Amino acid sequence: MTATFSTSPPVFIITIDGPTASGKGTVAQIVADRLGFHYLDSGALYRLVGLSAMRTKTAIEDEAAVAGLAMTLPCRFEGDRIFLDEEDVTDTIRAEEIGIMASRVGALPAVRQALFSLQTGFKRPPGLVADGRDMGTVIFPEAQLKVFLTASVDARAERRYKQLIEKGFPAKISDLRQDLFERDQRDTSRSVAPLAPAADAKTLDTTNLGINEAVSQVLDWYVAKKPNGNALMP
Ligand code: DC
Repeated sequence: MTATFSTSPPVFIITIDGPTASGKGTVAQIVADRLGFHYLDSGALYRLVGLSAMRTKTAIEDEAAVAGLAMTLPCRFEGDRIFLDEEDVTDTIRAEEIGIMASRVGALPAVRQALFSLQTGFKRPPGLVADGRDMGTVIFPEAQLKVFLTASVDARAERRYKQLIEKGFPAKISDLRQDLFERDQRDTSRSVAPLAPAADAKTLDTTNLGINEAVSQVLDWYVAKKPNGNALMP
């Protein structure tokens, strides 16, 4: 009988899922920095596909064509900048209309399939923090720590309003509340990988929590689960 040994180093995965503007992107990025882990912003991938579809005038109804764009997405992540071909689209993809496009292309099963291995490719030592809608349920079901962030629609509309104004995008709070509501509906009711907490996820309501408090809670959960010897970065 021959024994087999795994040579790949262990990768600790933290998934942070939740509805739009729940604070998951900010929390995930800070947690990744503190732990020296890689970071996957899966929403950015759907936004890039949405932007590509818009620019190439590909109809959302043409699922195969949109999936084709996802399969050959010429994107690059460099530090906190995101490139499509050679263009820096970090800020462009944050526009509300691109978020809505992202939610629409995300409802197409062939697009989700096309982005699957791109996302699992982010799993690299020493660890990964992945944020999105289906990180804990579909992409990384093996994650050691799964978090589901929520917040009231009003708190999320307020946050999104501030983010957009800071980035110089026009915004109206009543329109944002309506967009959030519609996006939640689409993201939770789609047939493939709907937004939902994994059965083993820890839920954190951030309606009345600051970013630092949310980060501390996630790090506390991590410390309780981490293998011995993993230290937090200063
Ligand atoms: O997290 P975000 O707001 O950047 O995501 C934009 C849209 O992309 C979101 O409304 C739905 C879609 N999305 C998805 O379907 N699955 C993911 N894992 C991440 C985002």
